[in-house]
Amino acid sequence: MRGQLTGTFPLAPVEPDLAHHGDAEVGEGLVDLAVNVRRAPMPGWLAEPIMASLADLAAYPDPRPARAAVAARHGRPPAEVLLTAGAAEGFVLLAQALRGVRRPVVVHPQFTEPEAALRAAGHPVERVLLDAADGFRLAPDRIPADADLVMIGNPTNPTSVLHPAADLAALARPGRVLVVDEAFADTTAAPGVPGEPESLAARRDLPGLLVVRSLTKTWGLAGLRIGYLLGEAALLERLAAVQPLWAVGTPALAAASACAGPAAVRAERAIAGQLTADREHLVARLAALPGVRVAGRPASAFVLIHRPGADRVRAELRHRGWAVRRGDTFPGLGPDWLRIAVRDRATTDAFIDTLAEIMEA
Ligand SMILES: Cc1ncc(COP(=O)(O)O)c(C=O)c1O
Repeated sequence: MRGQLTGTFPLAPVEPDLAHHGDAEVGEGLVDLAVNVRRAPMPGWLAEPIMASLADLAAYPDPRPARAAVAARHGRPPAEVLLTAGAAEGFVLLAQALRGVRRPVVVHPQFTEPEAALRAAGHPVERVLLDAADGFRLAPDRIPADADLVMIGNPTNPTSVLHPAADLAALARPGRVLVVDEAFADTTAAPGVPGEPESLAARRDLPGLLVVRSLTKTWGLAGLRIGYLLGEAALLERLAAVQPLWAVGTPALAAASACAGPAAVRAERAIAGQLTADREHLVARLAALPGVRVAGRPASAFVLIHRPGADRVRAELRHRGWAVRRGDTFPGLGPDWLRIAVRDRATTDAFIDTLAEIMEA
């Protein structure tokens, strides 16, 4: 009987809310450091084809030109590209199409939709939790040898860690689908490297590799819903078979074609370079705050920090007009973690001043 229980009992671990995302944290009058979508005026080369596509809305969408453009960008045949309504749709297609997998493993902390989609489809999900003490780096031997579906982000949201391509490539093997979520790969840059430093998007030699890409972040298209999957044609055919008919609309297809062109890719590299400088500024200012620890070696459009009592700091930040992303809804993190989007130096400086005031109080 309940009333007769005495002594101490371990608390059941609280299951993180996988359905929580940064967009739930923004609100009227708040400066948004919670959502990692770049806010900038849309360039003409992107706005014009999207606008022009409105004239064709009476026709059902034809994905073939966009598919060919994306394929050319990544040096693959069109059959190795599947356009999706954002990267998020890709996770649902995977979970629905790969009903037969026996041991799906999700590497955390990471974006929670891959696990949510697997669970919604009835898969028994196993988590591999990376350790803050190791800077959230993957030791490839943490992945069970018989895992037949492995999902990992690169760079990873929310840790901002960029795993070496070789470590991820080593996980690919016959009989396993290796899903690498590269939704933020276009935000990464490294000195002397012309392209995205650790991307596997052009790798056609790795069995079972499936790369997930998004166009919603750098190009500010979260409301348009456009992304794509890259992988073996036979695997993509299985995913396409469960995709709703005409899932990607004509304006989104126009955006995909525009973003695949060489000028767009050059622009992406320039944005990633500026982002690197802005991130270094944010990291340096965060690191100077007492009690704040920056996780890992950030490589993307956001930075993860640890600070005891971060949940209270977040509430006070909101009170003062700043929205940052809570950490406790990511498996493997907790209330002492916050994710902060990289913004321009002036925004960062104003934010850090407020953060410092709260921490001193
Ligand atoms: C790591 C990661 N992958 C995928 C997505 C989904 O992106 P999309 O807007 O293309 O569906 C997100 C969105 O936040 C994300 O953070």
